[in-house]
Amino acid sequence: MTETSQPTKDKIVIFDTTLRDGEQSPGASMSLEEKLQVAELLDEMGVDVIEAGFPIASNGDFEAVSEIARRVKNAVVCGLARASANDIDRAGEALKHAHAKRIHTFISTSPLHMKYKLQLEPEKVFEKVIASVTHARKWTDDVEWSAEDGSRTEHDFLCRCVEAAIKAGATTINIPDTVGYSVPEEYFALIQMLLNRVPNADQAVFSTHCHDDLGMAVANSLAGIRAGARQIECTINGLGERAGNAALEEVVMAIRTRGDVLPFRTDIKTPMLMRASKMVSNASAFPVQYNKAIVGQNAFAHESGIHQDGMLKNAQTYEIMRPEDVGVKSTSLVMGKHSGRHAFKEKLKDLGYELGENAFEDAFKRFKDLADKKKHVFDEDIDALVSDEMGAAGESVKVIALTVIAGTAGPQMATITLDVNGTHITKMSNGDGPVDATFNAIKSIIPHEATLRLYQVSAVTEGTDAQAEVSVRLEEGGKQVTGRAADTDTLVASAKAYVSAVNKLSGNRGRLNAREAAAV
Ligand code: KIV
Ligand code: ZN
Repeated sequence: MTETSQPTKDKIVIFDTTLRDGEQSPGASMSLEEKLQVAELLDEMGVDVIEAGFPIASNGDFEAVSEIARRVKNAVVCGLARASANDIDRAGEALKHAHAKRIHTFISTSPLHMKYKLQLEPEKVFEKVIASVTHARKWTDDVEWSAEDGSRTEHDFLCRCVEAAIKAGATTINIPDTVGYSVPEEYFALIQMLLNRVPNADQAVFSTHCHDDLGMAVANSLAGIRAGARQIECTINGLGERAGNAALEEVVMAIRTRGDVLPFRTDIKTPMLMRASKMVSNASAFPVQYNKAIVGQNAFAHESGIHQDGMLKNAQTYEIMRPEDVGVKSTSLVMGKHSGRHAFKEKLKDLGYELGENAFEDAFKRFKDLADKKKHVFDEDIDALVSDEMGAAGESVKVIALTVIAGTAGPQMATITLDVNGTHITKMSNGDGPVDATFNAIKSIIPHEATLRLYQVSAVTEGTDAQAEVSVRLEEGGKQVTGRAADTDTLVASAKAYVSAVNKLSGNRGRLNAREAAAV
């Protein structure tokens, strides 16, 4: 076994608190059904501990923790409780049916929190640490104790509380940077100090819980494990109070990608990260910022010509992770004003075009002009631009006539006449509505195996006499082509758009043979 292979590395326990700290962030509340879906996905993804909620907070939270406890198969399910018997009993009740359960009890230990928030003397807080952990142990052997505002707590007092919590039975000691105030060197030193000074530190797992108020939650969490902590508390998409918590996907991928300086491992199935991110974003209605590390829309997208050229030569030039390792299908080379010839040529190839040198140069110039005016250049824009370049002469099939019977009486029928390389062919078909009948009639003249991926109608102008612009996207053998056409008659526009897409498909396969088509 090599030095860097997984099993020789220290395992980091991934404690996900998306459903507790994450859900506490303003506006992020989730329904019971959504929480269950998230919990099941986290479980499948390999999260070790799922903090499912704060059962005393509401009946809804209690119910969610109970139901998650029943359903989760692999992970430990955890419920949060303040340092009071009522809170702890409520958490214990909610977790009753879990196959593995943890009670997480906490109290503030910083001078500021003790004086103003709790209005308790330190000695009273100290007593509550012992009483709460002792009480939680009546429900389960797996008890976590947290020193809220731990990073702003006096060291001597923190050491006393941690030692007492372990003595009372806490098996995990969590040191939150509750207000995201720490910097990595400081947080490293804090965990190291506790491990060195607390006499029974070896009897518990130390844990990080870092908030992102100064944008250092992930850096602080990684500093914590380098100092000896072996659990990281984190959330999907970094959801959480105020600026959020350390993002699960970031800590996991940092550990996976930088094994040279972070000799640890997690059991997270990283190809599920993107799915988890999307699910949590939808459930919480919190969009993921475009440039978010790992799961942002731009995390594996490149627009500049220099980067695209590098990527086409070797992906490692500008990507340190493989998109598929985080559940992203592939790198995307976004076409825009910064794109160069190399990427434009590849894009044309993907869309099924091969242009001669002069036509390519013309198309590239038109693309650059368009990209200067338009923020996003979509495949459809490039299609339209190149179709113009090739002109109607490039199309071997044209719509000559269309008659459609539509309405409530049914069946809907379409009769179409196509010009296939100079030969007129007429066919009739029925279908599930007039558009389907029209497309079936075309297909009966030009048979193909393509799947319809998009059918979109938009009005180019206003009013009932508006021009309808129709886009039709077909996919065959992994290649997608888009046909577009405009007409005041939506069905005629639909037929033309479909035929235009079919022309491009046949362009991909080699020019359509009129006699072959006509023979059908
Ligand atoms: O940030 C914090 O201190 C917490 C504790 C309850 C663990 O979320
Ligand atoms: Zn927190």
